[in-house]
Amino acid sequence: MTVTMTASGAQLVLLALCVCRGSGLQQTAPRVRLSFKELMDTRAARPFSFSFNTSDYRVLLMDQDQGRLYLGSREYLVALDMHNVNKEPLIIHWPASAKRKGECQMTGKGKQGECANFVRLIEPWNRTHLYTCGTGAYQPTCTFINRGWRAEVRRGRRSRLPGRDLPPPPPPRKLSAAEYFRTPNWATGLFVMFPRSLVTPLLSDLPLQDYLFRLVPGYVDSGKGKCSYDPKQESVAVLLNGNLYAGVHIDFMSTDAALFRTMGGRTAIRTEQYDSRWLNEPVFVQIQQIPDSAERNDDKLYFFFREKTLDSSSGTSPSVLARVGRVCLNDEGGQKSLVNRWTTFLKARLICSVIGDDGVETRFDELRDVFIQPTQDERSPMVYALFTTAGSVFKGSAVCVYSMADIRNVFNGPFAHKHGHNYQWTEYTGRIPYPRPGTCPGGTFTPGIRSSRNFSDEAVNFIRAHPLMFHPVYPIHRRPLVVRTGVDYRYTALVVDQVDAVDGRYEVLFLGTDQGTVQKIIVLPKDPTSMEELTLEEVEVFRSRAPVKTMKISSKRQQLYVSSDAGLTQVSLHRCGAYGRACSDCCLARDPYCAWDGESCSAFTPSTKRRSRRQDVKHGDPLRQCRGFNAKVEKRLREMVQFGVEGSSTFLECQPRSPQATVKWLFQREGRRKVLNRAGGALRTAHGVLLTSLNQSDAGLYQCVATENNFKHTVARVALRVLDRDIVLALTARDEDEDEEPGARRAAPLPRAPLPPTPFPPEIRLINQYCQSYWEQLSPKQQQQQQQQQQRKRTSRRHTESQDQGLG
Ligand SMILES: *[C@@H]1O[C@H](CO)[C@@H](O)[C@H](O)[C@H]1NC(C)=O
Ligand SMILES: *[C@@H]1O[C@H](CO)[C@@H](O)[C@H](O)[C@H]1NC(C)=O
Ligand SMILES: *[C@@H]1O[C@H](CO)[C@@H](O)[C@H](O)[C@H]1NC(C)=O
Ligand SMILES: *[C@@H]1O[C@H](CO)[C@@H](O)[C@H](O)[C@H]1NC(C)=O
Repeated sequence: MTVTMTASGAQLVLLALCVCRGSGLQQTAPRVRLSFKELMDTRAARPFSFSFNTSDYRVLLMDQDQGRLYLGSREYLVALDMHNVNKEPLIIHWPASAKRKGECQMTGKGKQGECANFVRLIEPWNRTHLYTCGTGAYQPTCTFINRGWRAEVRRGRRSRLPGRDLPPPPPPRKLSAAEYFRTPNWATGLFVMFPRSLVTPLLSDLPLQDYLFRLVPGYVDSGKGKCSYDPKQESVAVLLNGNLYAGVHIDFMSTDAALFRTMGGRTAIRTEQYDSRWLNEPVFVQIQQIPDSAERNDDKLYFFFREKTLDSSSGTSPSVLARVGRVCLNDEGGQKSLVNRWTTFLKARLICSVIGDDGVETRFDELRDVFIQPTQDERSPMVYALFTTAGSVFKGSAVCVYSMADIRNVFNGPFAHKHGHNYQWTEYTGRIPYPRPGTCPGGTFTPGIRSSRNFSDEAVNFIRAHPLMFHPVYPIHRRPLVVRTGVDYRYTALVVDQVDAVDGRYEVLFLGTDQGTVQKIIVLPKDPTSMEELTLEEVEVFRSRAPVKTMKISSKRQQLYVSSDAGLTQVSLHRCGAYGRACSDCCLARDPYCAWDGESCSAFTPSTKRRSRRQDVKHGDPLRQCRGFNAKVEKRLREMVQFGVEGSSTFLECQPRSPQATVKWLFQREGRRKVLNRAGGALRTAHGVLLTSLNQSDAGLYQCVATENNFKHTVARVALRVLDRDIVLALTARDEDEDEEPGARRAAPLPRAPLPPTPFPPEIRLINQYCQSYWEQLSPKQQQQQQQQQQRKRTSRRHTESQDQGLG
């Protein structure tokens, strides 16, 4: 039996303030929410804890084969272990030279610290090297990095020492700067840092330069067309067959943005300069090669960006538009016009909007992030795009999903054309030159054309004037998958995982917010026409709140890597134990990563024996899934005894695990149970119910029953006893009060002497206990005073005692 006394007045006021937002289901509220501390307690997350003087943790590159995560931040490059980001990170300090920083400041830049080298690109080059670029204090610079893979070191050592095993890896710990070894500069202004524990065996065993994570000494490339000057500008880049394709601002003032191809064997080309029909103040978000057919000559690069609308003056169209664009990888530019310019550049609008019940359309045009999810067919990945509403007043976010088939249909459809005296965008209906603009040379439909230089002048001039498609691309089902409006946060980043559960395959979305949290969301078909969205959890991933900047996911390692301006955290894709200890909790969680194994809620892998695993993502029905387990939980629920005082208030606590549960209170008195319907009023809050001005008819058994997804279970069972007001007053009255109010009814506290051996009813025993503790709280001086007073009032006390015994 557990006993609690009535909450104090102050507590009651606090609890009463947290009144529920009505009884309506808040489907978008996360079912489980964990603060940073709670997340740490689950041991399913790990913040990168090695601190050095850096910020802007923006660039993340995963190397799945070698289990490395490369991080690029302000003036640093770090190679991390994907299993444990705190396990001996390898660090390269790559600052801009002091001379360059000085020159940068001379130009008036650097008020917000921009005169530093911000790493903006890390791409795999070959098996042993990476290519990296940084802003170089407004002088973009690139170089090669030796990957410095430790496993090779180990393998090398093992082969030298046959039959002897390496010691087990040290436990994770925080590394201090003193533990790091700093080499002299290899090239101007370059430093390499690595743990001493790693250096010592290396120096004796192996040639250092072959294995350490470091910049290639003495090698520096210009970063023009690869990396922006201004660290505030977003940019994207991808290395394909030795060619670097980058969407960046190419100039110091950031007025000339373009899609560039540099490096490698092919001609350097770019988008037409200062032509707002091609690009109008673009912000690049994602870039990826997606093949269009089995013919390699048809291979295209797709890029996603947002840009200013051309006719913003008209007022009807949004000021920002989301775009998908593409070029052919084998584009060599034109022969007479568009020399060293793309001759295959096309773009189309991406639509993501929702029509509310009131018929008003909410448009999401500010493209923020794109995640490209591969499918069986490499030509048809799914494109998940994250948008927010443009402008700052109304916070709204949405995720829309596009199919490559729909995107290709738009590129194969009509071109847009500015026409007529009011320059409206119309469908171009004139003759379209051959080969159709946007077709790759030497591809399936143009085997006879060897190079883009062989395109006809007519075809080249057409694409120059008509880079925009007339039709926009609509999302699958013509509506967003996830919508958030009327909330005080925005989404900033998105990754998606595919999970095989007992009842099918699920797409799980991880969405980073500007509040430094990550939400895990699944969307299920509810009926043939509508979808049901479930926010499984929301976790705070940073110690100090900062918008999520970049997210990477490794399904193989079941890890998520989340970065902000100030830090990086590694988070497991699941923490099943956090859903609760009952089968019903696990089932109601509907997390495809988790299943009930008969003992606890734990990670589900399809290979484990199905019979013993209970999981029901589609319906989340514990009645079916947890037969035999539910009764056990109800039995484990202990009955609480709570005391209230006649005339005052008491609070009955009941906190269901999920905000999606509806709560009902049942009241049982003299064997009859019914829904709590109290004449004196009952204030329902998110934490329980407040009963005001109690009287004897309120005594009885209270049951809090939560219903979630049609599953009912008792969350709390409270036996309320109501104490007679006069007696309680008598027991707790202070002697000073008595002196002030000589006419008032009074009673003295019970004596400190041992209690009479009479078998008291439990209430009396409790009151005695209460008095005992009250007594012990008093200072010795007060106790002395009270003892004296008690001696004076012995007769009246005896009277009270006899009354107490009659309480029953
Ligand atoms: C940290 O880096 C910033 C920017 O590069 C620099 O201004 C500052 O002096 C550095 N602080 C320390 C303690 O090195
Ligand atoms: C990788 O590229 C670097 C830089 O070009 C070069 O020095 C190195 O030899 C290459 N490694 C391999 C294995 O090709
Ligand atoms: C294609 O272009 C190349 C180089 O510009 C030129 O040498 C060749 O003659 C052209 N071929 C045809 C068929 O026009
Ligand atoms: C208790 O209060 C209710 C309404 O608040 C009233 O109907 C009932 O008569 C009261 N019972 C006693 C015993 O005072």
